[in-house]
Amino acid sequence: MIRPRRNRKSPAVRALVRENSISASDFIYPLFVHDKDVDEAIDSMPGCTRWSIDGLVKEAGEAYALGVPAVVLFPAIAENLKTPQAEESHNDDGLVPRTIKALKAAYPGLCVITDVALDPYNSDGHDGIVVKNGDDLEILNDETVEVLCQQALSHARAGADMVSPSDMMDGRVEAIRETLDLEGFQNVSIMAYTAKYASAFYGPFRGALESAPKAGDKKTYQMDPANSREAIRETLLDEEEGADILMVKPAGPYLDIIAKMRETTTLPVAAYQVSGEYLMIKSASQDGWLDEKAIVLESLTGIKRAGADLILTYFAKDAASWLK
Ligand code: PBG
Repeated sequence: MIRPRRNRKSPAVRALVRENSISASDFIYPLFVHDKDVDEAIDSMPGCTRWSIDGLVKEAGEAYALGVPAVVLFPAIAENLKTPQAEESHNDDGLVPRTIKALKAAYPGLCVITDVALDPYNSDGHDGIVVKNGDDLEILNDETVEVLCQQALSHARAGADMVSPSDMMDGRVEAIRETLDLEGFQNVSIMAYTAKYASAFYGPFRGALESAPKAGDKKTYQMDPANSREAIRETLLDEEEGADILMVKPAGPYLDIIAKMRETTTLPVAAYQVSGEYLMIKSASQDGWLDEKAIVLESLTGIKRAGADLILTYFAKDAASWLK
């Protein structure tokens, strides 16, 4: 009789035949920062914090010491700095450039990644520049890409190792690559949000940054959750435009997309376990309904098994300590 259970009979045999594993070095830790001296709990994401720059440096250092190689920064920008053209997004003295400098001064070896998109800076709460035609909103593509290039450049000047456009404008990877190269930043990498879906799972994140769109939705630039061939199209484009790493977002409900992207490209594939995925696990574990540690490690293993090489997760630090 053929007995598959023989390969499961002991921890040692299971370890020998295990096909996938997760480790701290797979993780990118998303961190929120604001321009205040105090650290503030985020109501919409229990367990997450809007850090002061000092607080963020300390938190990043702890994760780094546990083996997490990278952080990605998300700024909560004061309402009075938000404008229709999002000028603050490329202010060299802005919150993100100052945070990058503080991080690189404290931990030169930590990979510092920045989000490139206008939503935290733009008074309309969209990832691009908005024009209003009556009740209709249009998100301008090419005008936005010019601002994104300036934003990426200001992050590079401050010392970012990698920029990560999350805006889903067409042609932005190529434009950012050209801008960085022209200005001498050939070594700054681009991790592209390649297949970023128009997802309700981003709700808690928008609460954290108070960056929800003031009107309309993001469906004219983020992808339709019903589509998968379109993710292949975006994969081929971002590859051709010069991205170094491609991303699928969200992760858990889009494992099929991760698997398809893995088969399509030779580039590293990243997946973002987003705020709604985090919140579902967190809230179900708070009352002991789910076993948080077991669920987190299983969900991350599932994302890895689907084909992700890297995982952006709010659990990065906890998971790294559990894996020790
Ligand atoms: C914005 C951005 C979003 C997230 C990362 N970058 C929100 C959005 O597109 O509305 C979401 C992350 C999360 O939900 O954890 N450019």
